Amino acid sequence: MWEQLNLRDIPNEAMPAVEAPPVTGEHPENRTPAKYWEPRLILGGMTLGILFCLNTSAWNYFDVSEGSYGIFWPRRNWLYFHVLAGTVAILIGPVQFWPGVKQAYPGLHRVLGVLYVASIGVGGGAAYYLALHTDFGWMFSVGMGSMTTAWVISAALATVAICRQMIEQHREWMVRSYVLTLGFVLLRLTGSILDTFDVGTIRDRFTFASWIAWSVPLMLTEVILQGRKVLASREKQEQRIEAPSPQTMRL
Ligand code: HEM
Repeated sequence: MWEQLNLRDIPNEAMPAVEAPPVTGEHPENRTPAKYWEPRLILGGMTLGILFCLNTSAWNYFDVSEGSYGIFWPRRNWLYFHVLAGTVAILIGPVQFWPGVKQAYPGLHRVLGVLYVASIGVGGGAAYYLALHTDFGWMFSVGMGSMTTAWVISAALATVAICRQMIEQHREWMVRSYVLTLGFVLLRLTGSILDTFDVGTIRDRFTFASWIAWSVPLMLTEVILQGRKVLASREKQEQRIEAPSPQTMRL
């Protein structure tokens, strides 16, 4: 699935030029990628979950009234722009990762990429302010501040990587960045689970969620990204020992 989400390895060193077969009507690239049903299903389901979360706990802030904002009323402008930018960022993600879209519409991929990074700039700036002025205590504040820092740094590094044509690094940092963007959903999910089981006080739940909702998903992402490389390099090594390449055989 990760490979189908355009996350396959791209070697950093220059590879020997291999003549590409002509792209004709019968070429595999021209066929409907039936194997993409799995990532499409996952991304589609994820998008529905995101829309549900936005509708139930974010879009109510587009109604600028004291009733909607509650404790956030004194910092309504920051939250308004945070929610607006967060909505843009979180909805761009599935389009960017949707199999085949980047190849079919590279211009769209670039425009949405710029918009995604810009919205993290705006959403992240507002998130810092909100984290520093929260009602839920310093531990929650530091948790959210750390999440914001990781959010901004990952988007920045993904941008620098693509500007320097480092495709694999760009992909990896964008995956990390989007996992952090999804922190909005995971934070609420963690809070809801703790609510259901009546664990601790409200402040305990918020504080716990502010650390767990992004650090654990980020660690699991790293396990997948780096684990695939470790396992792939072992396989490649074994393949090289078992079957020498045509170049080696010629020597
Ligand atoms: C890594 C990404 C994000 C960080 C670090 C972050 C940070 C924050 C912070 C610090 C607060 C204030 C919390 C408080 O004082 O109680 C907040 C609230 C909020 N954020 Fe984010 N945010 C992120 C992503 C998003 C996204 C993608 C959305 C989607 C629209 C979003 C929507 C909201 C909403 C609706 C609130 C109001 C609080 C609530 O109703 O629970 N955030 N965020």
